[in-house]
Amino acid sequence: MPVVVEPDPATAARLLSALPPGAHGVDSTDRLRAWVGEHTDEYVVVLGPHLGLEDALAACEALRVGRPTVSVVVVRDQSDTPIDTVLLTRAIKAGARDVVPHDDLEAVAAAVGRAHQLYVALRGPAGVTQQGRVVTVFSPKGGVGKTTMAVNLALALADGGARQVCLVDLDLAFGDVAITLQLFPSHTVEHAIGSEDTLDAAMLASLLTRHQGAVMVLAAPSQPDVRERITPALVTRVLTTLRETFDFVVVDTAPAFDETTLAALDETDECVVVATLDVPTLKNVRVALETLEMLGIARGRRHLLLNRADDAVGLGPDKVEGILGLAVAAQVATSIDIAASTNAGTPIVAGKPDHPSSTAIRALAGLLAGAPAGGAESAPHPAPPTPTRRFRIRR
Ligand SMILES: Nc1ncnc2c1ncn2[C@@H]1O[C@H](COP(=O)(O)OP(=O)(O)OP(=O)(O)O)[C@@H](O)[C@H]1O
Ligand SMILES: [Mg+2]
Repeated sequence: MPVVVEPDPATAARLLSALPPGAHGVDSTDRLRAWVGEHTDEYVVVLGPHLGLEDALAACEALRVGRPTVSVVVVRDQSDTPIDTVLLTRAIKAGARDVVPHDDLEAVAAAVGRAHQLYVALRGPAGVTQQGRVVTVFSPKGGVGKTTMAVNLALALADGGARQVCLVDLDLAFGDVAITLQLFPSHTVEHAIGSEDTLDAAMLASLLTRHQGAVMVLAAPSQPDVRERITPALVTRVLTTLRETFDFVVVDTAPAFDETTLAALDETDECVVVATLDVPTLKNVRVALETLEMLGIARGRRHLLLNRADDAVGLGPDKVEGILGLAVAAQVATSIDIAASTNAGTPIVAGKPDHPSSTAIRALAGLLAGAPAGGAESAPHPAPPTPTRRFRIRR
């Protein structure tokens, strides 16, 4: 799928609007390097007008040598850099296939279309299918921070666009992912009702809402009663379809073991269990973990996230590990900054990347991804989970 490299979110969104559904935005050439490293099927890179010219030409040169099958389209703002013969000569020598003005979206779309034709001619129409990983954020208790953590984890996994991430709001009655990200979706999962057997990647792409170029969101229905019409089979179809397109599908859930949550858990590769340091929550989390064990869900791939993990309540992480029989994978303290970021619509990993909570969430994302997207200190990627068939819910 086309990838746009553009540091300005509004410009990235404008360019992406001209490209096929599933086109993806990254905010820097560093993120582009990580992206093309992970996506061997990439066929076109669009370098946006806010990238410095030297930076853009260096990216062309690196792709020309390292990934000659990837076409590069350079977009320039003519008031900064006139598209003249000097620029065209430099761009073509560096390996660009097209140079187009930033205000001509039709020209951008046409250049990407030509790149696709070339890709099909070089590689054949089948391309490569990938299998992304489903990360489900779950807790049997309400209000413990599932949505906050799911949204922040999705952004941390996306790493500014280095990975393609879809965030699915499966709190079907009272989902608040969209409002947390200040998005106003025109479509939600409601528009997929009835397509348990027909839903495909293109239809699903039309139901997603883009957040700042890097994360796509499948929002929950706007009316709570719609929940009744969303079947477990539809949830399964949505997740299996999304994992064909995205590197990570992050699922936010309702605080219940209902049928749709169970369907999501059944597709889950990595389960992030959120707990807080109070006895009733810990009791319920323990029961939930026992249930996950009994059902064989995400065995060996459950990660305990302690939210509001403050020292003063008489229960430390070591005691919690003893009670739950699960090591603490991440801890996030109570912080007014988290609540303030939620209210401002800018999750803390985006608004305050140096905050200790952001560092903790990014570390958990790194653990889930197996290695930092930037690649330099790459730890070995965990072996894919054994595809144990877990259980099926009858409709
Ligand atoms: N570590 C934290 N410090 C301060 N406030 C937090 C923290 N984690 C979450 N919150 C706040 O707590 C409130 C509830 O969080 P959130 O909506 O993420 O919980 P939830 O588990 O998704 O709830 P529900 O079960 O209702 O869906 C939000 O206002 C959020 O900003
Ligand atoms: Mg929630």
